[in-house]
This record gives sequence, structure tokens and C-alpha cells, in this order.
Amino acid sequence: MRVLVTGGAGYIGSHTVLALLAAGHEAVVVDNLSNSSEEALARLAELAGRPIPFTRLDLRDRDALGRVFDREAVDAVIHFAGDKAVGESVRVPLQYYDNNIASTVALCEVMRTRSVRTLVFSSSATVYGDPGPRLFVETMPLSPVSPYGWTKAMIEQILLDLVATGDGWDVTRLRYFNPIGAHPSGRIGEDPTGVPNNLLPFVSQVAIGQRPAVTVFGDDYDTVDGTGVRDYLHVSDLATGHVAALEHSAGPDSCEAYNLGRGHGSSVLQVIEAFRAASGREIAVRMAPRRPGDLAACWADPSKAQRVLGWTADHTLEEACVDTWRWQTANPNGYRAA
Ligand code: NAD
Ligand code: WQD
Repeated sequence: MRVLVTGGAGYIGSHTVLALLAAGHEAVVVDNLSNSSEEALARLAELAGRPIPFTRLDLRDRDALGRVFDREAVDAVIHFAGDKAVGESVRVPLQYYDNNIASTVALCEVMRTRSVRTLVFSSSATVYGDPGPRLFVETMPLSPVSPYGWTKAMIEQILLDLVATGDGWDVTRLRYFNPIGAHPSGRIGEDPTGVPNNLLPFVSQVAIGQRPAVTVFGDDYDTVDGTGVRDYLHVSDLATGHVAALEHSAGPDSCEAYNLGRGHGSSVLQVIEAFRAASGREIAVRMAPRRPGDLAACWADPSKAQRVLGWTADHTLEEACVDTWRWQTANPNGYRAA
């Protein structure tokens, strides 16, 4: 298949482009580079051994996007483009509602006019909110707690409504848990700007000496060691999950949702210990109060993705830490040093 990857210069998108090529598909990237760089694309081309067709555009620019569809004759779309920081979404909700939702509506509108009906969408475990149980199943009601989470839940509803038109849309909603790790080459990886919000990039920057200590948000949860528990999965597994979703068609007028996770959780202290072992570096830890809005623990029930898509997340936490460390040491300033 010839696949348009929106946000393909970003963290998960870039790994998915490589997974698509490895599976014999073709990839075409659009991205406005608001949270990524030309350098990431150059490295993608280097790893692919050929240039990846790329157009710099904002998805909300329907005319520019339409021209890409006219030129590239794509069969399907994997839609990663969007803003993704929970805390930022609380500060600038309108930016999140505009960018995430307006982009998706524009994309679907252009797809409709070009008769492209196959779409895989990046949703998030954050759509579940704080449902009580720790094991998250796709059938749970959605009740997000942040503007970012609401954008994902609202987009899911928009896609359900689109499919309900009976116009033959084949949509897959993928709810990711906590993606970590980097490509084993060390050439592409997660490149946060400023202070990382997520645990793994922060731990990695402490290990390399760019930050003094990891602040652990809460050690009084009802978990194995009192710290928060999450389902961390390797970004390479997430990438193959997209290929599996693309290759498995549930048929016209379908809008299936799948959890993509490993099916079990690790605590903050377990992650730090795994990173210490992977890097051989001491990682200073500072205990702090709970972070507002955090859950004590959650992990995926990934059995639907296993059963229907034939997909599992095989990489271990330790492998993801080794790959993150390789990326961090080879690129201490991310793509900016290049
Ligand atoms: P990322 O920021 O690295 O990638 C997103 C890409 O989209 C960036 O390259 C950015 O420049 C681009 N973009 C943003 N708005 C755009 C617009 N209007 N037009 C064109 N391009 C635009 O993020 P990521 O971690 O790779 O996440 C990809 C997707 O997965 C996002 O939708 C995110 O919400 C979702 N997701 C991420 C995580 C995570 O922890 N990383 C977890 C669950 C879901
Ligand atoms: C993981 C654990 C923190 C940083 C977020 C989004 C979610 C999804 C993935 C996009 C928690 C603890 C963290 C630190 C810490 N993104 N922590 N010190 O909050 O599970 O999920 O990213 O969809 O929507 O909410 O991930 O990496 O921020 O936190 O102790 O400096 O690490 O409290 O227990 P989270 P995270």
C-alpha cells in the first residue's frame, strides 16, 4: 500500500515509516515540523536507503493537503499529526482543540473528496481517564481528564460518526499506552524540546548528566513500591502495531479500537533501575508529591490486538532502555546537534 503518514517526522511517525517500508509498503510524509525537524527526515532517508517523499504543510491547509493527495495517489492514511502534551493542553486548550480536531476534520474532508477511505488514527490510553480498574479494556466508557485527552476522545467520536454515514470508511483507532525506546540504530528517537514531560526522556537526560536528578512524583501510591505504574512499550512495537492495523481490514464501515500496550506495568522506580542497568550510570532520585492528575497505576488489556491483529509488544523494558541510551549518547542534544 502507498500510505500517507501525517506527523511522519515525529517520534512515533518516523519509526512507523520504517516499519511500513520494512513490510513492503510505501510511505509519503506530511508534517509542519512544529515538533520535529528536517534532520529526522534526512535520517529516515538514510535508514531507508532512499528518499521519503515529504511535503511540509499544516494539515489544516486543505488546498496544500489536497495537492499531496492528487500527486501521490495514496491508498491509506496513518494520522499521527497533533499536539500531545497533557500539561500544555491545560494551559492552551484552544490550541489543542484547534490543532488536533481541526487537522483531523480537514484530513478526513480531503480524504473524502479523493475517495481514500482507510485511516489509522493515533488515539491514546488517556481517553479512559480514571475509570477505577487498573486494567484498561477497549469497552470501558471514555472519560478523559485533560483537554488533550478530550481532543482524542472527540476525534474518536468524529470518526465513529463518519463511519456511520455508510460511505465505506475503514477506520482503526489505536489507543497507545506509554511509548518509549528508540530505533536500534541510534539514528532516530524521541527528541523533546525543553524539559521532558515524560519519564523516560527525563531519566535519560539525568543519566547523561544534563539534569541533576529525577523527580519521582509520589511514593505513597498503593503499588508495588509506592510509585506510579504504567504500561511502557517499545516504539518499534508500536510501529509494527500500525502496520498490523493497516494490513488487517475490518472491512468497510468499521471503526475498531485497539489498545496497544504490553499488558503489564512497571513502576517509576523499576524504570529507573532498568535504565541504571542499561546505561551503567548512577541516576539520582528526588521524591516529590504526587503530580496532579496522575493515576496510581494502569496497564492495557492488549488481548484484542493480539487476537484480531496478531500483534504483540515483544520488546522488554530493558531493551527499550538500552535503545534509548544508545540514542541519547549518540545524540546528546537530539537532532539539534546535527
Ligand atoms: P510528535 O510530536 O513527535 O509527532 C507529531 C508530529 O506531528 C510532529 O512531527 C509535528 O511536527 C506534527 N504536527 C503537529 N501538528 C501538525 C499539523 N497541524 N500539521 C502537520 N503536522 C503537524 O509526537 P509522537 O509522540 O510521535 O505522537 C504521535 C501521535 O501519537 C500524536 O497524535 C500523539 O497524540 C499520539 N500519542 C502519543 C503518545 C506518546 O506518549 N508519545 C501516546 C499516545 C498517543
Ligand atoms: C509516567 C509515570 C509519573 C515524569 C502521558 C500522557 C499520556 C500519554 C503518555 C499521549 C507517572 C511518573 C514522570 C517525571 C515521574 N501521552 N513521572 N517523574 O503520565 O503515564 O502519560 O504520556 O497520549 O496521555 O498523560 O506518562 O511519562 O509523564 O509518566 O515520577 O519526571 O512517571 O508520575 O507515574 P503518563 P509520563
